[in-house]
Amino acid sequence: MLGRLNHVAIVVPDLAGAAAIYRDTLGATVSDRQALPEHGVTVVFVDTGNSKVELLEPLGEGSPVASFLEKNPSGGMHHLCYEVDDIIAARDHLKASGARVLGDGTPKIGAHGKPVLFLHPKDFAGTLVELEQA
Ligand code: CO
Repeated sequence: MLGRLNHVAIVVPDLAGAAAIYRDTLGATVSDRQALPEHGVTVVFVDTGNSKVELLEPLGEGSPVASFLEKNPSGGMHHLCYEVDDIIAARDHLKASGARVLGDGTPKIGAHGKPVLFLHPKDFAGTLVELEQA
């Protein structure tokens, strides 16, 4: 079921500053900013060749990453995103296995224009997991 690692996501307090560190200090290729109001975040993607790093900061009221930043003011690793071939089949398999799918279990459209779901960190070794249909 589990495909390749699509990205590692890091929540940051200052997206422009974090993007500059990756672009200027680490010499990486960094995408333009992308606002995702439905997810309450603004993101950039860092190309690491074999995968990506997603840098995200809160957008708007009630952002799901605002409380994360309160607990981790300098930012930190937030989630891992794995690709799956069929997100509905993956969801149904995981629910049948007793894993908790966040929200109402209906995939939302993610930063790459593809359906995504999030899985409860307590069911996945303490890590928030995003699934993206490849
Ligand atoms: Co993500």
